[in-house]
Amino acid sequence: MKERTLSIIKPDAVAKGITGEVIKHFEQNGFKIIAMKMVHMSKKEAEEFYAVHRGRDFFEGFTAFMSSGPSVAIVLEGREVIRRNRELMGATNPKDAAEGTIRREFATDGRRNVVHGSDSQETAAFEISYFFNAFEVFGE
Ligand code: PPS
Repeated sequence: MKERTLSIIKPDAVAKGITGEVIKHFEQNGFKIIAMKMVHMSKKEAEEFYAVHRGRDFFEGFTAFMSSGPSVAIVLEGREVIRRNRELMGATNPKDAAEGTIRREFATDGRRNVVHGSDSQETAAFEISYFFNAFEVFGE
């Protein structure tokens, strides 16, 4: 089934100059880019976006990191793209990420781990609408 997912190329990846490398992985895997913009989240916006993790020990540091510089928000479309994108990203911590995944190749640690990807259809709908309105998404 065709789905949509939100990817964020995180501030560590943009700062390192590997935005294009990450996008290449998406395209090589057949994911269609149907929306894309550079964003610099405020601390409050990062806290809202990651509200499900509020109260966890990493929340403060992580939301500070996510608001530390620009990132790139992307909507990907494709068959089972939610699951396939998470497979391509690899585990949260690069030490646990499988060979050939984006995080294994580029991530520093569980915080500076290059990419975010929605984990369900419900989350994807919320996360896409957080960054894009209907006129900014060019899917089928
Ligand atoms: S969990 O435990 O399954 O809820 O974790 P996960 O969904 O994989 O990751 C939660 C997001 O928080 C970021 N983050 C950390 N996770 C775990 N430990 C530490 N120390 C940590 N620091 C930051 C992690 O990168 C996940 O971000 P997203 O953007 O959702 O991938």
